[in-house]
Amino acid sequence: MEHLADADLDLERPTVLYDDGRHGVYWIGITDETAFRCNTYLIRDGDQALLVDPGNRGFFEQVRSRVGQLMPPEEVTGLILCHQDPDVAASMVDWLDLNPKLEVISTARTHVLLPHYGRARYPAVEVREASARKLPSGGELRFIEAPFLHFPGAFATYDATSKVLFSGDVWAALDVQWRLVVDDFEMHVPAMDLFHLDYMASNVASRGFAKKLVGLDIEAIAPQHGSIIPRRYVPRALEYLDKLRCGLDIVYADLE
Ligand SMILES: [Fe+2]
Ligand SMILES: [Fe+2]
Repeated sequence: MEHLADADLDLERPTVLYDDGRHGVYWIGITDETAFRCNTYLIRDGDQALLVDPGNRGFFEQVRSRVGQLMPPEEVTGLILCHQDPDVAASMVDWLDLNPKLEVISTARTHVLLPHYGRARYPAVEVREASARKLPSGGELRFIEAPFLHFPGAFATYDATSKVLFSGDVWAALDVQWRLVVDDFEMHVPAMDLFHLDYMASNVASRGFAKKLVGLDIEAIAPQHGSIIPRRYVPRALEYLDKLRCGLDIVYADLE
């Protein structure tokens, strides 16, 4: 992943994050230039193609055409939705129009809310704490719940082959001066603070999640907003969550 830090990004094309011939991970790319831009990722493995956090409806055509540079978009087999926010999940209705059989993979708390986008029924797969999904290559995706970061039913997805942790809003960063891969963690902290201090529930939530990840072999953290955090900064990223004071810690600081 480090090799991408200095690479000239072609924002018109997907960027390969990992590819061993049997298993591929791509950053789909987006031309949105606001600080709240969203990352969509694609995992391809055998006959499975799973979009991680496909995004809002306004960018559906762009995401669809980028996916189309890699494969027929109607052959996407599933959506992994880390929670139901519109920036993550609203385009599920458009993806279901393309392929009504595609699986929507998320937690029960998220599935309760997703029908409000206008599809009462869809093929729903329920993610549970520490559950896994086997892939045709022999690899697997492991799901790790991230309660109250920021949604009660949020979760992260760990790809055991590429060792990429798709973290959703956790480690999200808001910044107009953006790079695909973090090259200076200290400079990146304020951009993460902008998101975490307002959105994340509390230190108990962030510290509890970080504790679950200790010992996990992480090549890169791929959040839904902002830059990818490469392996060399993963220990500091965990420490960031461990020490973070956010949300209710700040709002009700006088109660401590
Ligand atoms: Fe969110
Ligand atoms: Fe988000």
